[in-house]
Amino acid sequence: MDSVRNFDVFMPTRIIFGVSRVAEIGKITKTFGKKALLITYKDTSGMEDTIEKTSDLLKEEGISVIRYSDVVPDPPTEIINQGANIVRKEDIDVLIGLGGGSAIDSAKAIGVVAVNGGDAWDYMACNPECKKFESAMPVIAVPTTSGTGSETTAVAVLTRKQIKSKGSIVNPAIFAKVAIIDPELSSTMPPSLTASTGIDAFGHAMEAFLSKRSTPYVERLSPEAMKLIWNNLPLAYADGSNMLARANMAWASTLGGMMLAQSGVIGVHALSQALGAHLNIPHGIGVAIATPLFLEYNRHESSKKYIQLAKELGIGEGLKDDDIVDEFIKQINDFLKKFGMPNDLKSYSHKINRQELIENAMFNAPLSLVNNPRELTIEDMAKMIDKII
Ligand SMILES: [Fe+2]
Repeated sequence: MDSVRNFDVFMPTRIIFGVSRVAEIGKITKTFGKKALLITYKDTSGMEDTIEKTSDLLKEEGISVIRYSDVVPDPPTEIINQGANIVRKEDIDVLIGLGGGSAIDSAKAIGVVAVNGGDAWDYMACNPECKKFESAMPVIAVPTTSGTGSETTAVAVLTRKQIKSKGSIVNPAIFAKVAIIDPELSSTMPPSLTASTGIDAFGHAMEAFLSKRSTPYVERLSPEAMKLIWNNLPLAYADGSNMLARANMAWASTLGGMMLAQSGVIGVHALSQALGAHLNIPHGIGVAIATPLFLEYNRHESSKKYIQLAKELGIGEGLKDDDIVDEFIKQINDFLKKFGMPNDLKSYSHKINRQELIENAMFNAPLSLVNNPRELTIEDMAKMIDKII
């Protein structure tokens, strides 16, 4: 540090990391109570064995398990309210989110509504009447993808169907108590999911680094997460059984979540959330589409940070500073293109309501826009969206 900077670090989640460590779930869960709600996706394809095995591990320790398997990607608030009703009716002690980010986010949000009552919408940051709360039920997060970082964040992303909006509950009370990160659980992910979740993790790390609220802690660890993804996502994408690449991606995702939890994300995520709400574009693909727009938009405000990141990733060696910035943007964009994801909305053009999309991107993730290095008006957002539709 060149000068003294004040900052906080709050990371209350116990991280249990390593191959086969899901085996410890019974003993860990027992410390929170005797009855668990196991929250998983409705579409269990490819996950049947993991769900059965986890359920058996819990039962072996004498824990009674109720399954709630109604979660869909970007879960609507109704799914959360329904889950909270089950918690109350069944007198559940602890919630286990097993799956991708939406399963873990559902567990976190169910824990809020079960304790504080009402409707999940009451607690979403984009609700003008968002209610405060101090506590939530204990959550154990068991990710089966490597990207969302939900296992180490204080955020639960939900869909509010009534207003066609994706928003978040954001509160330190919803950090998972324990995150069990077992890279073996991610080994069955197909290449497309490996890529989209991996790019999401890359976004968390890079955006937290670029955020106006970045701290020395984030500025040290975010480049580490980015380097891991830069070097390992192509390997995990090409060969899902490469356990070292899977483990490096799992750790990078966890680090990305930790960085997001400290410094937030920027405009990329505001736009990605809007693309998810309006066009059902999977979150990581939305991040891949939005990243080039914001790298360019923030270029002047973030040029020093781009140069720092370029050095970390080995980009632009021997070039002048201005050229390093150009090369950094180019190589990040090239990296995103490696995984066969779209970089515009051309194939969605028949479904786009331009004005609604612009307003949603502008108003439904207010915290991400506050963090954006360069201020943004609705006209600026409109110009960016016009480049991709
Ligand atoms: Fe994300």
